[in-house]
Amino acid sequence: MSSMRPAAAVTIQDFTSEVNGTALAEDALDGLTRPFKELPPKYFYDSTGALLFDQICDLPEYYPTRTEAALLKEHAAGIVARTGASELVELGSGYATKTRILLAEMDRAGSLLRYVPIDVNDAVIRGVAAELTDDFPSLAVHGIIGDFERDLCRIPQAEGPRIVAFLGGTIGNFPPGARRRFLREISGLMRSQDRLLIGHDLVKDPAVIEAAYNDSAGITAAFNRHILRVLNLELGANFEPDAFEHVAFFDPGHEWIEMRLRATREMDVHVAAIDLDVRFADQEEIRTEISAKFTRERLTADLAAAGLELDDLLTDRDELYGLSLSSLAD
Ligand code: AVJ
Repeated sequence: MSSMRPAAAVTIQDFTSEVNGTALAEDALDGLTRPFKELPPKYFYDSTGALLFDQICDLPEYYPTRTEAALLKEHAAGIVARTGASELVELGSGYATKTRILLAEMDRAGSLLRYVPIDVNDAVIRGVAAELTDDFPSLAVHGIIGDFERDLCRIPQAEGPRIVAFLGGTIGNFPPGARRRFLREISGLMRSQDRLLIGHDLVKDPAVIEAAYNDSAGITAAFNRHILRVLNLELGANFEPDAFEHVAFFDPGHEWIEMRLRATREMDVHVAAIDLDVRFADQEEIRTEISAKFTRERLTADLAAAGLELDDLLTDRDELYGLSLSSLAD
């Protein structure tokens, strides 16, 4: 075979059609009919929610984003050198701001071949693919528009050593059992030469954690209430977001932050798309997010349960945040 085939620099596969709307309807029905109401945090991130989250990342109280970026800058060269990776697979890639640090380092090392981002947001995947192929002309991008909880099976076969990145501390959103099942699914995609790179918020003084989720500008409160707007828009619900109070606290038993919305009076809400009437008692709370914080022990145990072994846990000096590198256990 000659090498005359045109370089297919960008491939994009979309797996979101139909599924998305029904997933939200099913999750809303499930979550709003429980004795302790709950909504999955993945629904925060429509385009407005993604913008609110970007504002959170810039808040003085919200240390995770900038600490993770600093750790990546400091360690990218080392990570790339140890792995010799030619591919970067990224789960929940977003705007790939931090990813560029790794891609640039792979490029410098001369090993960069392909970037495989998965994200639910169509515009984000297409935009990032276009920008990155501009910046790295020889880069192939295989973008997957989908939900990493459902679409890991869509990730293409590896063509070389791989880094699978799951950054931002999003792993904390999984409850413990689901977290280990998800890690096991990832380990099922890995070969001995591949490395999993995860960003974790770490257990620390609860006051520091709680401040990050109760910022003085009220952005996190707006973000929290936004999930009700998503239900109003997508499912024809009639929530009054301003009638709910933002609540965020560290639960030391579970070592996680919980965000809740607390009804400030008794309310009846209708969710038209699923023809559901929901009653809220005065002061009743809905859980909208858990965000687990990690210790080395908990991380090692989670990885082991998924057939993975911790190679390294890189942290900042104050041990606010960690980047873990792990590989298949032998
Ligand atoms: C994107 C899930 C990592 O848990 O800190 C920020 C989301 N929620 N402020 C986090 C979030 C409230 C964030 N993650």
